[in-house]
Amino acid sequence: VTALADLLVAIVGPDHVLDDADVTASYARDWTGRFVGEALLVVRPGSTAEVAGVLRACTDAGVPVVPQGGNTGLVGGSVPRRQPMVVLSTSRLTARGDVDAGAAQVTLGAGVTMADWRRHAQAGGFDAPVDFASRDSATVGGAVATNAGGSRVVRFGTMRAQVAGLTAVLADGSSIGSLAGLPKETVGVHWPSLLAGSEGTLGVITAVRLKLVPWYRHTATAMVATGSLADAVAVLAALRSNVANLDAVELILPEAMAVVAAHLGATPPVGDERTGAYVVVELADHEDPTDALMAALADLPQIHDAAVTTEGPARERLVAFRDRITESISAQGVPLKLDVAVPVGALDELMAAVRAALAAHGGRVVPFGHLAEGNVHVNILDPGDPDLLARDILGAASALGGTISAEHGGGLAKSKYLHLVRTPAELAAAAALRHALDPTGTLNPGVLTAT
Ligand code: FAD
Ligand code: MLT
Ligand code: ZN
Repeated sequence: VTALADLLVAIVGPDHVLDDADVTASYARDWTGRFVGEALLVVRPGSTAEVAGVLRACTDAGVPVVPQGGNTGLVGGSVPRRQPMVVLSTSRLTARGDVDAGAAQVTLGAGVTMADWRRHAQAGGFDAPVDFASRDSATVGGAVATNAGGSRVVRFGTMRAQVAGLTAVLADGSSIGSLAGLPKETVGVHWPSLLAGSEGTLGVITAVRLKLVPWYRHTATAMVATGSLADAVAVLAALRSNVANLDAVELILPEAMAVVAAHLGATPPVGDERTGAYVVVELADHEDPTDALMAALADLPQIHDAAVTTEGPARERLVAFRDRITESISAQGVPLKLDVAVPVGALDELMAAVRAALAAHGGRVVPFGHLAEGNVHVNILDPGDPDLLARDILGAASALGGTISAEHGGGLAKSKYLHLVRTPAELAAAAALRHALDPTGTLNPGVLTAT
């Protein structure tokens, strides 16, 4: 280790190679506490060239590397396994280019946080198209690597849709990609497409060229109470056809509302014993969209209670019931997190399968998510048999034409379930591609590795 440590110190400097167990421990435990590994060393390169030197040295030494951004990933892919690994932290790659208004793009270092991306965009008169609750720690590099989603996917798509360019370093230290951000270029492999969602297994993203969107300063946000999940889907359908500027359609099922309301010490602004599903809807526009939202909700028979707010403290109080659910679950313990998605018409059947699995294997479900994408975050506290619960629920999602991971990625958590959504030929082709780019298996071994 000392030989490798000395090499790394020569590349990044003594302040950026950490080996004190007290310090490296926080880099070796994931956000939920479910995945804990062993960080041989933590190294914090300050440039693409330093990333290249670090990867070259680790590959030559046969020491595997786990790329880490904000360490808010929820599938165990951002922390070392129980084998000695080097954590390559992108936390120092925080350069920010000027907002390019003509292109509506900006170039950012991979270690820039999602919140800083948004602040930087707004300082330039634009907005960032992706937002989710871990925004203060999650990085743009990590968001691309996990193809992160969040609440605005219904309007702008996932991170994959926002990447106009990127630079990355492969395990052998060679660099690929471009930050030109050309809207049109067709000359073979499109590196952003290949690396978005690759979860640190194909290369370390060092900088990204991201799209920006207009900053719709006026928002109207509603929480509505409906009788059932089917009613909530009917409200979604009505909103999709009746309103422009639909910016978020989020789902909170009663078990999740109970957990987050207790955590906040607040009473939900709507709902009663009739309520089977809460929907948080947001419109965002250059003009105040409150009237449009009120009109769209007014005559929907599925809604038995509604609260509508505009931007400001009232909105923050209402959105907290959705934004703070993940935090409220982790305050109660280490959950089994199953980030599944199905066609919205199959949500009822999915939840029936979830409840059957819980009856069979034990646990307390806290279900919520992103309604417009049929993405339910099936969080299970005190899981009875995590493997059987995962097998049954991921199996049900796949059988219903859905997926075993909507936005968090596969990480370590889903490695033994990849066969539910990928054929043997696809898994073999993906492994061949990965081997071509990382023949010594340096990058994130165990992540997205079918077992
Ligand atoms: P990390 O956790 O550090 O890493 C995640 C994965 O990406 C790992 O496999 C890692 O190896 C790889 N990686 C990181 N940086 C790079 C890089 N520069 N190059 C190559 N690989 C890299 N996710 C959503 O999609 N939607 C949500 O709504 C959402 N809500 C969340 C709410 C909370 C409270 C929390 C804690 C998490 C939430 N997440 C959500 C999950 C998480 O924030 C995202 O997956 C995020 O994109 C991870 O970014 P990160 O920088 O923390 O990456
Ligand atoms: C969120 O949408 O809050 C997270 O992706 C869900 C989770 O923590 O399971
Ligand atoms: Zn989510």
